[in-house]
Amino acid sequence: MARTPASLSGQDEGSFAYLTIKDRIPQILTRAIDTLHRHKSEFFEKHGEKGTEAEKKAISLLSKLRNELQTDKPIIPFVEKFVDTDIWNQYLEYQQSLLNENDGKPRWFYSPWLFVECYMYRRIHEAIIQSPPIDDFDVFKESKDQNFFESQESVIALCTHLQEVVRAIEDLDENQLREEFFRLLQISLWGNKCDLSLSSGETRSQKTNVINSLEELKPLILVNDMERLWLLLNNCKKTREKASITRVVIVLDNSGFELVTDLVLADFLLSSQLATEIHFYGKTIPWFVSDTTIRDFNWLIEQMKMSNHKWMSKCGADWEAYVKTGRWVYRDHIFWTLPHEFCVMSQVAPDLYAELQKAHLILFKGDLNYRKLTGDRKWEFTVPFHQALNGFHPAPLCSIRTLKAELQVGLKPGQAEQYVASEPNWLTTGKYGIFQFDGPL
Ligand code: F6P
Ligand code: MG
Repeated sequence: MARTPASLSGQDEGSFAYLTIKDRIPQILTRAIDTLHRHKSEFFEKHGEKGTEAEKKAISLLSKLRNELQTDKPIIPFVEKFVDTDIWNQYLEYQQSLLNENDGKPRWFYSPWLFVECYMYRRIHEAIIQSPPIDDFDVFKESKDQNFFESQESVIALCTHLQEVVRAIEDLDENQLREEFFRLLQISLWGNKCDLSLSSGETRSQKTNVINSLEELKPLILVNDMERLWLLLNNCKKTREKASITRVVIVLDNSGFELVTDLVLADFLLSSQLATEIHFYGKTIPWFVSDTTIRDFNWLIEQMKMSNHKWMSKCGADWEAYVKTGRWVYRDHIFWTLPHEFCVMSQVAPDLYAELQKAHLILFKGDLNYRKLTGDRKWEFTVPFHQALNGFHPAPLCSIRTLKAELQVGLKPGQAEQYVASEPNWLTTGKYGIFQFDGPL
């Protein structure tokens, strides 16, 4: 196999990786510390003095972590026993083995960015599980929930739209179905702008009705393989025998508005019979501020169900029923919160890889998934996506992502150059998006 390029890293001064490690990550830690502080009285009411002690302990562990980071100290092993501790510590040893003798230990600014950023979120989790009885506290929960509440108007507009489509679905011809599929895919794409790690946890909710902006946003889609998704799923629908299945996997990203857009898409896939079952994957622990956990998933469906708005609560009720009847399956796997690139999944998590192989299509939402799909490496812009996947081909797959890292492959010659000169930050602001497909033609 051809050699893969070097990893993105904080070594490159001025790069987005460098700025993330230098500024954004410490800000995220500071916000986590503030959040714990603000919940002080709640911890006391729930657990008495033990709650107060735990809050102090968690804060001191996070402050220590922030100091290690800001002074570029060596990356230290995990001490608290958790399901993935051994795999993590082995990975740390592996990073050590990549260094020369004189290099010392892996450090924040000199190691691959993907590794240190994942490590930081895993250390936050360690600080919390080391602080019972508040060891199941999610320091990001509040901002995730706030994002959902602040997006209410858009959520209502989206639910109303979905219900109109579903009611008329029997009457839609193939072309109308295709148009609707494309519409909901694009809504799910732009929903990915709402991640909270880019803003260090400050809310990035969806205040305007995105359905009305799709035409304007279309030129910002740099790679657009929507048609291939349609051909694949429509073909599955047409050739499917009675009682057989079409499984679409959605590897979820952010909770809040983005999750609503993903669930709306998933609802449409079932209602239109483009798929017969949807498997969602979320994160086992709080991750990259806004990523979806099982708690977020259940909470959001419950909120929808309880809403006073007719169509919003109808969506919530339908979605709960999908889960109860097994047409929607929520799963998690520890692999998604490891630092590994996806090309090693078949060795590190063969059970997960085997599960993904059963899918007819896998949709990977968001920027972090893209970084892991492509190994977070300094690929040239024109390298084919298939090559950057570096052997990761469990099933036909598509990345649906707004660009928030200095990484993009599969562009046409000259395409990147159009932006490089005029928009220096085109790769990192979330303004542009892609639907990038890999699979048989
Ligand atoms: O902070 C690093 C980063 O991976 C960015 O590249 C991106 O802004 C964010 O975290 C995660 O984005 P997403 O929620 O789309 O995976
Ligand atoms: Mg995310």
